[in-house]
Amino acid sequence: MESFRVTSQGPLVRPLDGTVHVGGAKNSALKLMAAALLAPGTSVIRNVPDILDVAVMGELLVRLGCEVDLQHPVGADPTREQISGVATITVPDELAWEAPYELVRRLRASIAVLGPLVARCHRASVALPGGDAIGSRGLDMHMAGLRELGASVRVEHGQVVAEVDGELRGAPMWLDFPSVGATENLVMAAVLATGTSVLDNAAREPEIVDLCEMLVAMGARIDGIGTSMLTIEGVDRLHPVDHVTVTDRIQAGTWAFAPAIAGGRIRVAGGVGGHLDLVLDKLADAGAQVDVDDAGFSVLAERRLRSFDVVTLPYPGFPTDLQPFAMALAAVSEGTAMITENVFESRFMFAQELARLGADVHTDGHHAVVRGLAELSGAPVIAHDIRAGAALVLAGLAGQGVTVVGESQHVDRGYPAFAETLSAVGADVVRLRGTGQPQV
Ligand code: UD1
Repeated sequence: MESFRVTSQGPLVRPLDGTVHVGGAKNSALKLMAAALLAPGTSVIRNVPDILDVAVMGELLVRLGCEVDLQHPVGADPTREQISGVATITVPDELAWEAPYELVRRLRASIAVLGPLVARCHRASVALPGGDAIGSRGLDMHMAGLRELGASVRVEHGQVVAEVDGELRGAPMWLDFPSVGATENLVMAAVLATGTSVLDNAAREPEIVDLCEMLVAMGARIDGIGTSMLTIEGVDRLHPVDHVTVTDRIQAGTWAFAPAIAGGRIRVAGGVGGHLDLVLDKLADAGAQVDVDDAGFSVLAERRLRSFDVVTLPYPGFPTDLQPFAMALAAVSEGTAMITENVFESRFMFAQELARLGADVHTDGHHAVVRGLAELSGAPVIAHDIRAGAALVLAGLAGQGVTVVGESQHVDRGYPAFAETLSAVGADVVRLRGTGQPQV
């Protein structure tokens, strides 16, 4: 068990100052690795983040019969360069088609192998991931879509089992909600189906655009990329690819919130401003100085910002993954903010931890009202998930005294070298071992 110790004298006392380089998106790289299953041969995926989730996805692909080589630069410094790894995946002609619970429970994104396995093997058995700290994560839309494509799908002994007699058949599909995971699985299944599929109300996150672009480079025929209506003309086979993962907009957004919460200036090198339009507009309206250019963006906060309301929605709405940061910022902004969480019902577990730092936050269903205070006060708290953990570290920078964020291994699942990067831009953040000793 690891934790991060954050020491602060309150917001704006020791402003952050520096550059952070943002690498490839976790939420894209994991799906691109799954997509490699669609073509026998060796695919290369670049700009893969150096995080545990990528290693677990690699293990799963090995279990399915692939050879996986993950390379990351050793000792790279994220304030000087982008930490960019390479995944080389060699996919056999015959894949195993069972994804076991012991791997899926460690990585919910493993469900992304369901579509590729049904498409390649005509059957798949993938463990149900179960719930986690941010919500129940249903799979009904994944399963309904695969049924439209002609598969029989059932849940048996904790596994989702999908089978099709012969090939999947292209079909019209409609999602009740633009689910990221269902869109990905259904596109990956439809690219090898016979005939045309139309996926309506598809999610259009930049990571989905990235996946579709990789599939097109592999020989898939997809129209409407980046819109909510994807038309997929099935092809007989795909070929391996060499693809560069899109930049992580959630990491970039996290670094945009850091100076907004703690004070100071951060340049986010490689951050794509266009993927964060709404977030950066809100920070600018609240009083931060935001400058966007082709190579990244910077955020400067020299004084306390004004509160703003947030409603999380699928892209291009306000990302649910950045909601905890918005809540942490509201806790130390001027005025009152209403935060509405529409995507994951349990993300507000974070509010209880933020309250331990003295925040004035009240939740009711999927709404939270946050009254801003001049500062928070350091306390021990627990990271229940990746984003909540990172947001608690930033909230700790706005708290007088010492904040210890327990279970910080969650943060490492989404951010390569998070504590080290923050210290490099001037924050007092130390990684502690289980014993509470600083890690050297
Ligand atoms: C992905 C991201 C996650 C992000 C989320 C929304 C990864 C690894 N994770 O998660 O960081 O917060 O998108 O941008 O990429 N739902 C159903 N039935 C379904 C599918 C989804 O009820 O068949 C519900 C989920 O329980 C959730 C909501 O829809 O409440 C959104 O889920 P979805 O968009 O699928 O998110 P994920 O792909 O799980």
